[in-house]
This record gives sequence, structure tokens and C-alpha cells, in this order.
Amino acid sequence: MENNRKVTLTYNDGKDNLDMPVLKGTLGPDVVDIRAFSKTGMFTFDPGFLATASCESQITFIDGDLGQLYYRGYPIEQLAAKSDYLEVCYLLLNGELPTAQERQAFERGIMRHNMLHDQLMSLFKGFRRDAHPMAVMVGVVGALSAFYHDSLDINNAEHRKISAHRLIAKLPNIAAQAYRYNKGLPFSYPKNGLTYAENFLHMMFSTPCEEYKVNKTLALALDRIFTLHADHEQNASTSTVRLAGSSGANPFACIAAGIACLWGPSHGGANEAVLKMLDEIGSVENVPAFMEGVKNKTHKLMGFGHRVYKNMDPRAAIMKETCDEVLNELGLHNDPKFKLAMALEKIALEDPYFIERKLYPNVDFYSGIVLSAIGIPVSMFTPIFALARTVGWISHWAEMIADPAMKIGRPRQLYTGAQRRDYIPQEQR
Ligand code: ACO
Repeated sequence: MENNRKVTLTYNDGKDNLDMPVLKGTLGPDVVDIRAFSKTGMFTFDPGFLATASCESQITFIDGDLGQLYYRGYPIEQLAAKSDYLEVCYLLLNGELPTAQERQAFERGIMRHNMLHDQLMSLFKGFRRDAHPMAVMVGVVGALSAFYHDSLDINNAEHRKISAHRLIAKLPNIAAQAYRYNKGLPFSYPKNGLTYAENFLHMMFSTPCEEYKVNKTLALALDRIFTLHADHEQNASTSTVRLAGSSGANPFACIAAGIACLWGPSHGGANEAVLKMLDEIGSVENVPAFMEGVKNKTHKLMGFGHRVYKNMDPRAAIMKETCDEVLNELGLHNDPKFKLAMALEKIALEDPYFIERKLYPNVDFYSGIVLSAIGIPVSMFTPIFALARTVGWISHWAEMIADPAMKIGRPRQLYTGAQRRDYIPQEQR
């Protein structure tokens, strides 16, 4: 990892120079190891981690300039076309693709854990019916730690594995029950024999009154959404999970922290914003006026642009194909909302404003449309993102805990508050 390149820090006040080693990853830019810097009595200042690698990781790699995303070295395009979500879960957790036997054992392990403790169902009932499903998810996932004392020893690799399997298995159930509670539907149960995505659709939409038939095209589209959202290296929620876990907190509490972070509109809420924007624009005739507003910076074109990808988000290209498949399957190509989305996309891709700024549609532009076409309400978009990302979060958590060099995360600060001062009694203020 270390090579013989160094970065030398020189001071203009006569202090000795400081050499800092340059570390080389397998892919991506080199990284300056600044750990020796703390001995100088100063700190580095980097709000938002714009120039800081917070950890070493072997799970996911993004090249934003080239528009590439790899899970454990495999390009996302290949995984989306040839693999499926549960195999991707195995890959992210274990580092390698499973053999047929490993795959079967893994699937069985996940299936065995997909029910929720009956007592947990009472917890749902403590929420108001109109609670946002993300609020329910933060609470219920955190509460799992009160139910599984048998897998909370984070220093035991077998416990870590069981907790990971429990989380991957139970998250779709928890998300589906949060939706059903909100709708006033009776709670549902998983049905083994269905795939992971089929089971989620079944738990969301089945009723006790009639047999629910899963539409295979829609289940495959959902499986692809799960795969595309499974991990995205050190984003805000993953970093939150790592920081929470660095104190030794249990995995259920750490994933609840990740869900809380994902809830923010700058992170997991973008596909919801795309649908709200389409509703606001209303119809294709209003697109030119809306685009004028975008160029005058009155509002943004939601679902376009990305902090890391300055090229086509590879997940967006895959999601666009899935979007076409779903709209065709459901005969929705002429639906006014989806026609509007396609008109917006076409205009934006040809407009110099977007071309010059390297603004491409991101995965959320299409995933919002697909989820909406499947009949999933907007309030469930972020919970679906959370259930898909759980495997990424728990893989990063497990990688960190297994590292013997793990330290509690403890950033420092540039203090700009008051100097030391003496307390003034109230009557003298
Ligand atoms: N619509 C219109 N203009 C945009 C958009 C957009 N969606 N995104 C960026 N721009 C413009 C900016 O106004 C800026 O213009 P300027 O150079 O004239 O000042 C230029 O493009 C660069 O924009 P930045 O804000 O510097 O880009 P940054 O990389 O910081 O932001 C972000 C990325 C936050 C995602 C932004 O593109 C955005 O707000 N997009 C819409 C929201 C969205 O879809 N978010 C989902 C991201 S994907 C995800 O989180 C899973």
C-alpha cells in the first residue's frame, strides 16, 4: 500500500519539515497519510470530508469521472444484468461470489430470519397511523437489539454474521409493515418460496381476501433497484453507521443510525423529490417555463446531477432500461406523468446548460418513476432505499469491526467560540 512517494509539509516559521507517506490503493487517487500530523500540535480542517479518506475499505469503488461503480471489483452493469440482489448481498458481505452450495445455504439462512418477533408488532401499534414509514423504521430497527441478545457480541464473528443475516432478512418485512400500518391494512407475513423482491411485493400488497399474484417483470425491476442501491462506498449514511459502530454499539443500533441519516432530503429523499417535481410541473406544455426557472436558478431539475458522478451515473443507464420495461409492461408509456418525465429527460440531455455542467440524470430520476409505476407510494421510496442499502451498511460495519486497527471515530474541531470567561450571577447580567 505504501510506496516511496512522500508529501513534505514545510513551515514558514522555522519548524522542521514533516514527511508524510503517500498510500496507494488498488484503484482511485493516492491518499496522503496525515496521521503523523497530529504530533505537530495542529489539526487538519476538512468540513464535509471533501478531501479526506475516512477509512480503508475493500468493498465498493466509484470513479465519478468515468461513471464506474464496482462492488468487490465487479462492474455494476454486469451484476445488474447477470446476478440478483441476494447474490450481490453475499458478494458484498463475503467478498466473493458464492458457489451454488454457498448460495443455497445463504438464501436459506436469510429466509429463516425473515419473520418478525410477535412482540415487535406491538411496537408498530405505538406509532400514530400517519407516522412517516422512515420514523417507524428508525424505531423498529433500533428495537431489534432488544430482541436478539444472542447475537450482540460484536467481537464474535458468528454473532456478526447472524446479525447481518437478520437485518437483511427483516428489513423488507419491517418496511412493508410500516406501510400497512399507515394504510390500516392488517399485518402480513413473508411467504417462503418467493424471491426476496417478490416477497417484498407480496408483504406490501397482499390482502387476506384473495391470492396475490406477483408480476415477474415488476419483481425483477424491484430486484434491480435493490441491487443498484446495495452499496455506494463512504456516503453519509455509511459513514454514520461506521462512526456509530466505532464506539462498539450493537449492529441494530448502528443500522438505525444509518436509516436516520438516509432520511435526509440531500441523501435518500431525491427520488421522492423527482415525483413531487413532476406533479408540480403538471404537463408537457409547462416544461419550457420550468426549464427557464432551472436556468435562472429558481429551482433545480431534481434527479439530475451528482456530487461524485460527473459523467452518466452507471446505475441511471441501467435504471432507464428497467424504466422502459416497466412502463411497457404496465402500458404506461402514454400516461401523462411518465410522458412528462421522458420529455424532461430528452430536453435536459440536449440542453447546453446541462451539457456544459456535466449534469446527467442520476439513478433517482428513473427509480422514482419505476417505483411510482409499480404502485409504491412516494413515502415508501426512502424505506426501499434503506432496505436495499442495509447490506452495504452492515458489510462496512463488519469490515470495520474485524479490523484489529479499529479506533473509535473522534474528529477534532476548529474552535471559534468564546474565550475562557467567568460565570456571572443572574442578577448582574
Ligand atoms: N438542476 C439544475 N442545475 C443544477 C443541478 C440540477 N439538478 N445540479 C447542479 N446544477 C448546477 C448548479 O446550479 C451549478 O451551476 P453553476 O455552475 O452555474 O453555479 C452547477 O450545476 C454545479 O452544481 P453543484 O451544486 O456544484 O454540484 P454538486 O456536485 O455540488 O451537487 C447535487 C450535486 C447536490 C446532487 C446537485 O446536482 C443537485 O442538487 N441535484 C438535484 C437533486 C438530486 O437529484 N439529488 C440526488 C443525487 S443522487 C443520490 O443522492 C443517490
